[in-house]
Amino acid sequence: MIEKAKQRLIFALDVDAFEEAERWVGVLHEKVGIFKVGKQLFTRCGPDIVRMIRSRGGDVFLDLKYHDIPNTVAMAGLEAARLGVRIFNVHALGGLEMMKAAATALDRDFPRGTPGRPLLLAVTILTSSSEQTLRDVGIERPVDEMVPRLARLALEAGLDGVVASPREVEAIRKACGRDFLIVTPGVRPADASLDDQKRVMTPAEAIIAGADYLVIGRPISAAADPMAAAGKILSEMAQALE
Ligand code: C5P
Repeated sequence: MIEKAKQRLIFALDVDAFEEAERWVGVLHEKVGIFKVGKQLFTRCGPDIVRMIRSRGGDVFLDLKYHDIPNTVAMAGLEAARLGVRIFNVHALGGLEMMKAAATALDRDFPRGTPGRPLLLAVTILTSSSEQTLRDVGIERPVDEMVPRLARLALEAGLDGVVASPREVEAIRKACGRDFLIVTPGVRPADASLDDQKRVMTPAEAIIAGADYLVIGRPISAAADPMAAAGKILSEMAQALE
């Protein structure tokens, strides 16, 4: 179960230098299966950051949240897949056609069920968006309604799952069924600081609620002993998976 938990633990590599990222991968690769690379680190270091993580035995979640015309997103997704990332994502607000184009391009070059095929996820509504943020851009529906609606659209487009806050897991499970993957940040062990996260769940609670993968950063990186903190999270996840 620990190995299964390791493959579901994603460490948020929220650093801005290649050497620092390299140090974290070195420290954590025995406990963490997947390392999340976001816009800052990727813009700074480029594809070399993905190659470095993979050469050290880690998998990569390339968190670039593509949102553009369908062909551009489809081609960008193919480049991510060619780099060998395990997971990448797009914005569901880019629409059904855009998401379908990304899924179809992957299906063609990286057929479902083959080992090199990455998981393609959507982000629905960013947790930083409020009802007012949505109204400002002309979306009059509440966030609680938009999240499962966009998740269903991602499912219809052939995506593998979504990134969502722990409190959205239940509604997404209901809308999209058991096989649709849910990746959740906003996870905090019971004894960890909340930092700027507001609605959190513990690792066990998130798994039991139906999350498939957990994204965790500061509870590991800011701990006095990051390896031990990651180990504790893994055992909690493994227990919940049982
Ligand atoms: O340090 P922490 O565990 O809060 O890191 C969570 C990671 O997940 C960060 O990289 C953050 O940008 C990302 N994230 C989030 N909430 C979202 C989407 C992504 O915290 N809704």
